[in-house]
Amino acid sequence: MILKRPSEIDAMADAAVINRAALEAVEAAIAPGVTTLELNDLAEEVILGGGGTPAFKGYHGFPATLCTSLNEVVVHGIPNERPLEEGDIVSIDVGTFYKGYAADMAKTYAVGTIPEDVQRLLDATERSLYAGIERAQPGNRLGDVSAAIQDVIEQEGMWVVREFVGHGIGRTFHEPPDVPNFGRAGTGPVLRPGLVLAIEPMVAVSRTSVVVLDDGWTAPTETGVLSAHFEHTVAITDDGPRILTAKETMTKQNQEGSEHGA
Ligand code: MF3
Ligand code: CO
Repeated sequence: MILKRPSEIDAMADAAVINRAALEAVEAAIAPGVTTLELNDLAEEVILGGGGTPAFKGYHGFPATLCTSLNEVVVHGIPNERPLEEGDIVSIDVGTFYKGYAADMAKTYAVGTIPEDVQRLLDATERSLYAGIERAQPGNRLGDVSAAIQDVIEQEGMWVVREFVGHGIGRTFHEPPDVPNFGRAGTGPVLRPGLVLAIEPMVAVSRTSVVVLDDGWTAPTETGVLSAHFEHTVAITDDGPRILTAKETMTKQNQEGSEHGA
């Protein structure tokens, strides 16, 4: 496990500010008729405009800035020309490098109006993310985070995806440890201040495996049931979890920068 100094965590927070701005621009543009390729280009513009680099593009050959995962696709959907349709759900996953540090964030959005049970999937998945983050305390164990996520999802009668997991993050996009969204409280490595984790529950409506299509990336549920994905980059600090990709984490330097329109 790579532990970061407080100054490095501030640098990661700066990467996260740009990353979040990209996701917010996408969020504002999501509507029926818009293509995921258009969303991709928008995100890329924001990241480059902020002085960052899209972290996914070229990563193991991934061809885009965003992962756009529609409906039954859990993760790693590739942006394309298909217009979003009323009633779709779409997970937008985005990563940014800035001054040598990475940030990673995802959210699943409704396109227009969605049925109540689908909204329940989105709400439960997001709630499980925050339940996990709440356990990301120094002195706790990694299994405490995993178990908290799993508990929320299984109480809803939904299914935690096993094939993909969260990860450590820092100067490289994926670092040890793996952060599963299932596990047992009280097990696994102890969380220490300076550890930064990308916590990212991936949830299906019902029990299913996840497959990968011939494009080598797109990962839908095997049964075709809907799936959602939410992610934050979270630093474990002496004061508890610091959500770097949340709104209120701008460093002083960055706030001054933006006041001057930089
Ligand atoms: N947030 C995802 C992850 O942590 C995105 C990686 S997609 C890739 O694994 F294209 F970059 F591989
Ligand atoms: Co990630």
